[in-house]
Amino acid sequence: MNQEEWLGLSLKHNFWTWSSQGSPDVIHVNRAEGVYFWDEMGKRFLDFNSMTMCVNIGHGNTRVQDAMIAQIRELTFAGPHMSTRARALLGQKLAEIMPDGIDHFLYTLGGADANENAVKLARDCTGKNKILTRYRSYHGATMGAMALTGDARRLHWEPSVMPGVVHFIDPYRYRSAFYRNMEGVTDVQFTQAYLDHLEEIIQCEGPQTIAGILLETVTGTNGIIIPPDGYLQGVRALCDKYKILVITDEVMCGFGRTGEMFAFEHWGIVPDIITMAKGITSGYAPLGAVAMRSEIAAYYKDRQFVGGLTYNGHPVSLAAALANINVIQEDHLVENAALRGEWLKQKLTALKAAHPCVGEVRSIGLFGAIELVKDRESRAPLTAFGKPLNATMKKVTAYLAENGIYIKNTGHMLLIIPPLIITDAQLEEGLAVIDAALQLADEDIALGQVE
Ligand SMILES: Cc1ncc(COP(=O)(O)O)c(C=O)c1O
Repeated sequence: MNQEEWLGLSLKHNFWTWSSQGSPDVIHVNRAEGVYFWDEMGKRFLDFNSMTMCVNIGHGNTRVQDAMIAQIRELTFAGPHMSTRARALLGQKLAEIMPDGIDHFLYTLGGADANENAVKLARDCTGKNKILTRYRSYHGATMGAMALTGDARRLHWEPSVMPGVVHFIDPYRYRSAFYRNMEGVTDVQFTQAYLDHLEEIIQCEGPQTIAGILLETVTGTNGIIIPPDGYLQGVRALCDKYKILVITDEVMCGFGRTGEMFAFEHWGIVPDIITMAKGITSGYAPLGAVAMRSEIAAYYKDRQFVGGLTYNGHPVSLAAALANINVIQEDHLVENAALRGEWLKQKLTALKAAHPCVGEVRSIGLFGAIELVKDRESRAPLTAFGKPLNATMKKVTAYLAENGIYIKNTGHMLLIIPPLIITDAQLEEGLAVIDAALQLADEDIALGQVE
């Protein structure tokens, strides 16, 4: 069958997530290797999104493939209550790469259910109910995780999502709610304003009702929002003061993405619960995990944990995770993300200088965003978030796809999240196409043609 026939058959019987079924944005993928994948016609795409922000070690790694094949041959499946070699070894490996005291792991199928299980743990252990999360956050698409999600994706399902979630505002310098004009505002003042806001919410909601605060350590799909120094330390201190658990969502920013194995390491805090998925297997098999302090695991010594799914702890996923973490360590991919990340930062700064359509660039490790605006003065987003893309943004994204760059945008932000094995030359290859695409937006702006 040719590409059109394969695609036709795929579209005929399959239902697509996050898509209108009449016009899903589907690429028929045929093979993938390193930082590239190819369609049936042989067109090559440079994967600037690590597929779904998850293929941290790159595509087609034979060490992970071989570990999975060996696991399939040894023992393809065992129930969630069974011990397997893969389970024993992965628990040991995760304990090794976690801070001291975080030494128990609950396996899930992905990120959303990792977050929902984190909520269960926090509610059980504290005997409290409310969970605080931020407006600019995404924590997954199941009904509990949707409730935790702060951004507009939640609104579609309200009010039938999980009750008990209260949102607060995140420290987003470029669009600060508290400082419309940032001139003269120091980092310390800025950070403190957001911590004061959080403390007021804690007091208004009643600390005796709040089980946990759940944060993406570095906000992902809402635009790579990097917390200012002191912010996470401040959240930790507030949580200690009010006996609230700190839960960090490392689903997207974990496993080397930011230039540390886990993003919270940049700010020297130790959370109580850490959720992960995506980079834990680099997408080679579905898996998520909830890491918890030993005290939280100890709470359940004589109590049942009420939760679990048939495929929790699937041996093939656990074997994939173990091999994947070994690859990250053996190939020094965390270090590579940090080094290439410095280079990316310089290049993004140059793109900002060259293009009037770029309002701000942000990055940490290989986790970057280019925020596009109609004009730098008003900072109006080039296309409205949560609405269909306007003609200019469509032109930019179409140019990138036509020229073989696989990149995702959330509204007016282009996200740069390549595999951690990427080289400077490959980054350069992608950024040159982005440079040309941004020129199209500049032209529309100069002609006053942006809707
Ligand atoms: C920060 C964060 N948390 C949770 C999730 C949900 O993960 P999953 O899609 O594996 O359920 C995502 C997915 O993009 C995410 O980015």
